[in-house]
Parts: sequence; structure tokens; C-alpha cells
Amino acid sequence: MTFHPNRHSMSSHWLAFTSNRRFHQQPRLVDRAEGIFYYTPQGQPLYDSLSGLWCTPLGHGNQAITEAISRQLGYLDYAPAFNVSHPLAFELADKLAELAPGDLNHTLFCNSGSEAADTALKLARAYWRAKGRAEKTKFIGRSKGYHGVNFGGISVGGIVGNRKLYGQTLDTYHLPHTWLAQNRFAKGVPTEGDYLADSLLSILEVQDASNIAAVIVEPMAGSGGVIVPSAGYLKRLRELCDQHDILLIFDEVITGFGRLGSLFGADFFDVQPDILTCAKALTNGVVPMGAVISNDDIYATLMDQPGDDYLIEFPHGYTYSAHPLACASALASLAQLTKPALMSKVRELSGVFEQAIHQLKGLPLVEDIRNIGLAGAIQIEADPAHPLKRASDISALCWDKGVYVRFGGNNLSFAPPFICTAEDIQHIFARVAEAIQEYAKTL
Ligand SMILES: Cc1ncc(COP(=O)(O)O)c(C=O)c1O
Repeated sequence: MTFHPNRHSMSSHWLAFTSNRRFHQQPRLVDRAEGIFYYTPQGQPLYDSLSGLWCTPLGHGNQAITEAISRQLGYLDYAPAFNVSHPLAFELADKLAELAPGDLNHTLFCNSGSEAADTALKLARAYWRAKGRAEKTKFIGRSKGYHGVNFGGISVGGIVGNRKLYGQTLDTYHLPHTWLAQNRFAKGVPTEGDYLADSLLSILEVQDASNIAAVIVEPMAGSGGVIVPSAGYLKRLRELCDQHDILLIFDEVITGFGRLGSLFGADFFDVQPDILTCAKALTNGVVPMGAVISNDDIYATLMDQPGDDYLIEFPHGYTYSAHPLACASALASLAQLTKPALMSKVRELSGVFEQAIHQLKGLPLVEDIRNIGLAGAIQIEADPAHPLKRASDISALCWDKGVYVRFGGNNLSFAPPFICTAEDIQHIFARVAEAIQEYAKTL
């Protein structure tokens, strides 16, 4: 396929989360992908160093997924999501109940991580109302947190650039982020920072727990720049939520399905949330899907509400909830992502990844490096005059060197596919190191 962007087609597609004006000057297109590579229309291969947008851990063109979707397409292309369902939806929900930790056994399906976040927040409010505690409506998120782009998600989210244009949000408060200067260049889970969870108490001191529905955090802040909490932080948060009757929601849109070397971040940190949201790797990114998995108590509370059986217990859902093609894609992905051999490989590669990314310590402009599992970030010293420019410029240089690198704020983020090799990881960071060095020389 040949496609030559011209002025008209460039402006007709308003790109998501993109500086469109810069893109028009330097369009970056891919028109094919296979395994761990994207290919430009000119045929240049690019290492996919972020598994798309953290969502394709099995790489591109996975045969089992392609076959499962093709089969499903010829069988049942769409089923109404309301009052009707189809067998694959139940099969997938059963699978998620089996895989998710503890009594997270009940899945509401949606189509993205953003929808999952907003669904979870609505579920938390509905739960407290059903419990007779309708005043528990406020939410607590965390600075630098990312929960997608819908109104609920940006309310609890803590990345200022994603919230500041949009006026009034939900009634939310934010824990401080878990980045600490003394943890700079820490490898894996840092030691310092359990005490940061106690900031919840300062919020409660002013807002009172009787008004709070839920705390929502990512086990590891992914989009905020792979900010890893200390080992005891989430345990402490769980303790405090229990003491104060507050639901704990883990947004596992990035950490779900193996990114940390455990199936979920909840498993990695050994902390049980009341609600877990996921998306992305659930279908290996091939068909959009999100999921909100809630515990037995929340489900039972909503099912046991007084009133006739014909009434809807939770009036919420999407036309494409549990879409048959997404279910087929998810079942085929999970069959592979849950193989113990693959998780062992992720853990093994995590060691290689840690070593490779930390080799960039000492390069000019590199002010922090963080990693956990097969995820990591390199924090670039900001140019005071143009605080968000350098990471973007370095990412552009990486592209020219054959590596697709995601930047966000001052961070270059990495989450290579689980199917890559140690050599691929080393190659990626060698090119990134060159790009940083070359860029620094131009300043
Ligand atoms: C933790 C987290 N939550 C929610 C989202 C939003 O997901 P989506 O872009 O599928 O709406 C993301 C996306 O990166 C995410 O990382």
C-alpha cells in the first residue's frame, strides 16, 4: 500500500494526543507490522519498544489471535450487549474470574481503559448507594496518575496537562505521586516511600472518610513515567482503605496481563483491590476492549437490591460491551499470556532490560532511570524554556535510527513485547543512547 499524505488528508485526520502541527512537518507513518517490528510505507523497519501503546505484548500478527478473530467473524459478528449475550462473553468472564486475584469474580466489559476507569468509578458510587451510604461520592486519585481521558478518568488522574483545559471535574482529591529524589536510578522497586500512603490520612482529615467512595491508583504509574511505588506502599494504602471503609481500585490497564512478570500488579505487590480495571493487553491490542472486575461483595450488594427482578441493577454499559470479536481476541491472547513459560521469559528478560536501560545512566541529560518488570522510563532533564521538548526531539531521532520510542512529558518510556530477545533489548537501548548523545551535542 502506498500512501502519500498531502495537505488535505493531513488535516482531515486530527491525531489523538499528538502535536498535530509538528506531525504535519514530520509525519511518521507505519503501514505494516509483524512480530516486534513496525514498517514505514518506505519499508524501514522500526523496533516497537513500547508494544504499540503498552498493548501488544505478543507482538504483531499473532497467528492464533488472527485465526480466532477470523473464525468469530464468520460465526457471530455482533451481538446486542443489552438483555442478550453470547457464549464467548461468558467464557471470557469465567477466564478473568479464574485469573484475577482473590474474589475478583465479576466482569463488566467495555471498550477501553478510559471507559473502564469511568465504569469503575460509577460502580463504586452505585455500591455505596446500594449499601445505604449515598453520601460516599468523592474519589481520591494520585498526582501523576493516568486513568484515561473521560471525565471520571481526568478527575482522578493527576497529569495536569490532561485536566487543565476542561473546567470542572468530579469532586476528587489527590495523593502525592511516589517519585522521590532519593530513589533516582533505583533498580526495580525502590526502598523509600511507604510513608507516602499515609497522605491519605491528611485528605481524610479534611474530607472525612464518610464522604469518600474510593481510592484509585495504578499499581505502577505507567503514563506518568513508570513511577514505581516502594514495596510496602500499596499494602499501607489497602490497610488505610479497610480502616476507613473506602474501596480500593487498581487501574491495571498497563500492569495487567504480565507486564511486571506477574499476571497482575496486584499479584506482584501482593495487595488485593476491590475493583480492578484492565484493557490493552487483554486482547493484545488487536480489538479494543476494557474490563472492570469487581469482588463478590460489590456484585452481591448490587444484585441484592430490593425491587422487582425486571429492574436493571446497574444502569450502565456500551453498545460494544463484550463485542464478539474482542472476546475472541481476548481468549486467544489470554491462552498465550497465561502460559507459565511466557511469564518466566518475561521475568528473565526483565533482568536484561534492567541492566540495558540502566546502562544509560551518566549520559548527558539523563536525570533518572526507573524500571519494573518489562517496563521502564528514562527521564530527560527539562529545558526550562521548553519543558516538554527534549524527550519529543530525542524520540524523533530514535525513529530515524529505526526505533519507535514513546515520549510523555520529560520521559522516554519503554515496554517491549514479551516475544523479543535479549539482543533486541540491547539493540533498542544502544540506539536510544546514540540518540541522546547526538541530541545533547546540538544544545
Ligand atoms: C493506567 C491507564 N488507565 C487508563 C488508560 C486509558 O486507556 P485507553 O487509552 O484505552 O482509554 C491508560 C492508557 O494508557 C492507562 O495507562
